[in-house]
Amino acid sequence: MRLDKLISNCGFGSRKEVKELLKKGLVTVDDAVCKRPEAQVDPSCQRVCVGDVLVEYEKYSYLMMNKPAGVISATFDEEHTTVLDLVAERYQYAQVFPVGRLDKDTTGLLILSNDGGFAHRALSPKKHVEKVYRAELSAHIDKTTIKAFEEGIKIDDDFTTMPAGLIALDDEGFVAQVTIREGKFHQVKRMFEALGIKVLALKRTHFAGIPLDENLAQGEYRRLTDDELKIVSNLLSKD
Ligand code: URA
Repeated sequence: MRLDKLISNCGFGSRKEVKELLKKGLVTVDDAVCKRPEAQVDPSCQRVCVGDVLVEYEKYSYLMMNKPAGVISATFDEEHTTVLDLVAERYQYAQVFPVGRLDKDTTGLLILSNDGGFAHRALSPKKHVEKVYRAELSAHIDKTTIKAFEEGIKIDDDFTTMPAGLIALDDEGFVAQVTIREGKFHQVKRMFEALGIKVLALKRTHFAGIPLDENLAQGEYRRLTDDELKIVSNLLSKD
């Protein structure tokens, strides 16, 4: 890949800033100074350094964020803070993006990555990737609500949801866990709305079998661990 792209993707600055580093002679490839941004390098077998710092190449980044309310699941917005505004520059240069969407007021687990193939599979309607939410509700759920979720709910003139799981998390049934395998716009809120219940707060707690790391405060993120990455890729590679 191009030398300037590699260095930029690894968090050393924008392509413009990296060109300056190259111009100043701060970049070495296999211990020889290289000043050409367009030079082709193979990071798997060549040693690239900026000053004394080794450029550690990661083909793709995979992050888990605990999304706060009030932030939108987008890469750029004129008006609102986006989840991309919350990540370090190195990930912005690496062009990570949210894998799927959570509403502005929804909190919890959001994966960000720059692996387009992974995102495509994770969001494919054919994959039926499981998502689990904790919902605080305006009215309590009961056997009828649970049965309606199990049977699928008509949320549009021409759309009925697949069977979904619903479990009460408190004694009264005002807090519930919802499990869905689709990702229609405002799906959870619309499912409850169809039964006359308003969602007061919504948090995603699991995505594709991975639980939200509760040590992450809202707005914080970390890289997926190798074990988490294995869970996701195994799950997504199945047809
Ligand atoms: N369902 C919703 O209604 N909102 C979300 O953010 C996610 C699922």
